[in-house]
Amino acid sequence: MPPIELKPDVYWIGVNDRTTDLFEGLWPITQEGVSYNAYLINDEKKAIVDLAKALKTDEFFEQIDHVMDIGQLDYIIVNHMEPDHSGILSTLRRMAPHTTILGTEKTRKMLETFYGITEGVQVVQDGETLSLGQHTLKFVYTPFVHWPETMMTYETSAQILFSCDAFGSYGALRGSIFDDACTVPAFYEQEALRYYVNIVAVFSKPVLQAIEKLAGVPVSIIAPSHGLVWRKNPQRIVELYQKWAEYATGPTEVGITMLYGSMYGNTEKMMNAVAQGISQEGVPLTIFDVNHTHVSYILPSLWTQRGVVVGAPTYEGSLFPPMAQVLDMAAQKRVRHKKVARFGSYGWSGGAQRHFERLIEPLKWELTDSFEFTGSPSENDLKRGEELGVQFSRLVKSSD
Ligand code: FEO
Repeated sequence: MPPIELKPDVYWIGVNDRTTDLFEGLWPITQEGVSYNAYLINDEKKAIVDLAKALKTDEFFEQIDHVMDIGQLDYIIVNHMEPDHSGILSTLRRMAPHTTILGTEKTRKMLETFYGITEGVQVVQDGETLSLGQHTLKFVYTPFVHWPETMMTYETSAQILFSCDAFGSYGALRGSIFDDACTVPAFYEQEALRYYVNIVAVFSKPVLQAIEKLAGVPVSIIAPSHGLVWRKNPQRIVELYQKWAEYATGPTEVGITMLYGSMYGNTEKMMNAVAQGISQEGVPLTIFDVNHTHVSYILPSLWTQRGVVVGAPTYEGSLFPPMAQVLDMAAQKRVRHKKVARFGSYGWSGGAQRHFERLIEPLKWELTDSFEFTGSPSENDLKRGEELGVQFSRLVKSSD
């Protein structure tokens, strides 16, 4: 895409990535893609804020060429060192060797360990300003949104907040980069949630601290390093991030995530009986087959809904491994404080329940009901499952 003007002399020069399958080597984006948003300010002094992954480098540099001679670049502002934003840095530095790289003290150290860069680096302090001529930049430390070195950059005259990972989403950009021209806002909000839970949620407390720190700052445009640029309603994405961050410790939504995995269909039969019970109570229910769904797509539901039902059989004396992997990742992502019920089939001696209870200990999930059955569920077993669904739904509705 050609450079796109956000405000006079402020340009988006990002890269759309539709070829990477796994973001961070972990999270599927084959269908959705992702953008690495970088920004160029063409003033008396010239600065680039945020960079991109080392991908489509010709495209990246051609966008700069549209606006200015790259040899005239004065500053590279590194809000965040993760290589989806810094990967192109070494190449850019070779093309513009006299630029000064600006970042936090932690960024300075990472520049050396990631890229061997020690020269031409200047540490900026929290709240420090830099005049480029008509534009003045202010640097705001926001550690651990996402890494410890992270900061944001605020352009004071046009009130643009370059927020880096904060307020970002998966989803390559579809022509327009702005929220007001977006024809699929629900897609980007859904992908913002998936991105939040996959990447940022562990750092929910620093996210809330950053939002609080910026509360009095007038912002006309939020320009994150992934996804849409928010200029019609920048508050919208801030409110969403705030809500999701508060879910880390506070009340979540009335709803149930049912995770199931089945080897030969017996646990699946029970899953349907439990779902019938839940539907009788009118509680929103999302069902995931853990054998066929990447955990990336499961985590948003786990994060936002207050109830979890786990249906999984015994496998070699333990919980069905695909389910154990989902619960492991939920623990890694600190999906805490849920009400949970479990059911599952076993062939002879069981063992899944013991393993399950061990797995949910670090999650601090409250186990409210569980039962197991041998082989295929009987009519009575299915009635028991339906009743579990009814009772668990009532509990979820009455809890916070
Ligand atoms: Fe988009 Fe933490 O990098």
